[in-house]
Amino acid sequence: MNIILCGFMGCGKSSIGWRLAKLTGYKFVDIDKVIEEDAGMTVREIFAQKGENAFRSAETQAVKELSKRDNLVIATGGGTVMNPENVDTFHEGGGKILFLDVPVAALQERLKRDVRRPLLQRPDRREFIYKFHRERHPKYKDAADFVIRAGAPAIVVARNIAALVTELEKKEQS
Ligand code: S3P
Repeated sequence: MNIILCGFMGCGKSSIGWRLAKLTGYKFVDIDKVIEEDAGMTVREIFAQKGENAFRSAETQAVKELSKRDNLVIATGGGTVMNPENVDTFHEGGGKILFLDVPVAALQERLKRDVRRPLLQRPDRREFIYKFHRERHPKYKDAADFVIRAGAPAIVVARNIAALVTELEKKEQS
C-alpha cells in the first residue's frame, strides 16, 4: 500500500509527509523533487522554459513509476490529482489518497511570501489563491479516499494519519 497526500499548495503535503513516513516506517517521496531530479531543473525553471504541459507530462510519468512501488508516503503536487488519469493510476497501484484539508485563510497566510511556486508569482496572489482553491477543493474531495483536517501543526496531523494507516494495514491483512 502507498499513502498519497494531496491538497492545495501550502497544505503541508511534504512537511506532514516526511513526519508520517518516520512514524510509519514507510519511505517518503515528493513528486516535485522526483521531477526536478529527473529534469535537472527546478519546477519553476521547467514551467518557465518548457511550459506547464511539459511539467504535467513529467508529473504523470512520475505517478506511473511511483505507483509500481510499495510502502511509500507520496507527497503530490497541488495539481497532480486534478488529472483523473493520475488518480486512477494511484488507485490501481493500491494507493490510498488522503486529502489534507486546510482553511483557505491559513493557506493564504502560509503562501504570502512564496517565491518558489510558479503559479503564485502574480500581483493578485491572495485573490488568486481564494478563487483557485474554490475551484479545486471539490476535485480534491472527489479524488480522496479520506479527507483529513490538516490545519493543526504538522506533527499532530502526521500522528493522526499514522493511526489511520495502522487501521488500514489491519484491514489489508484481514
Ligand atoms: C502546483 C503545485 C506545486 C507544483 C507546481 C504546480 C499546482 O506543488 O507541483 O508548482 O498546480 O498546484 P506544491 O503543491 O507542493 O506546491
